[in-house]
Amino acid sequence: MSKLTRVDLAGVGELPEKGFIVRSHGELQILLARFKGEVFAVENLCSHAFARFDDGRLRGMRLMCPLHGACFDIRDGSVLGKPASAPIQSFAVTLDGDRVLVDLPEAAECKPD
Ligand code: FES
Repeated sequence: MSKLTRVDLAGVGELPEKGFIVRSHGELQILLARFKGEVFAVENLCSHAFARFDDGRLRGMRLMCPLHGACFDIRDGSVLGKPASAPIQSFAVTLDGDRVLVDLPEAAECKPD
């Protein structure tokens, strides 16, 4: 298992009430969204054919892929609708005041020599 690092990705106020934002950490893209007052983070990459969710839809906790319509639960990345069969990666979120901190695998370029 790769080592995790806690990364400050956004302010809570940057998250829309409905919808999501995307942030980058190295080559990883992370989708941040709110649901019932909690903040969740999943990888911005569909497990079916690796589309980005940028043009996808979020209804409640249900994230729909724009390419073939697979649905995932933003709380844990689990599959809610076909054609995907594998979950997407989800990441632990900690709120520190107004900041959204996400535990991410250390980016290769951040490793010391
Ligand atoms: S790439 Fe997302 S459902 Fe096919």
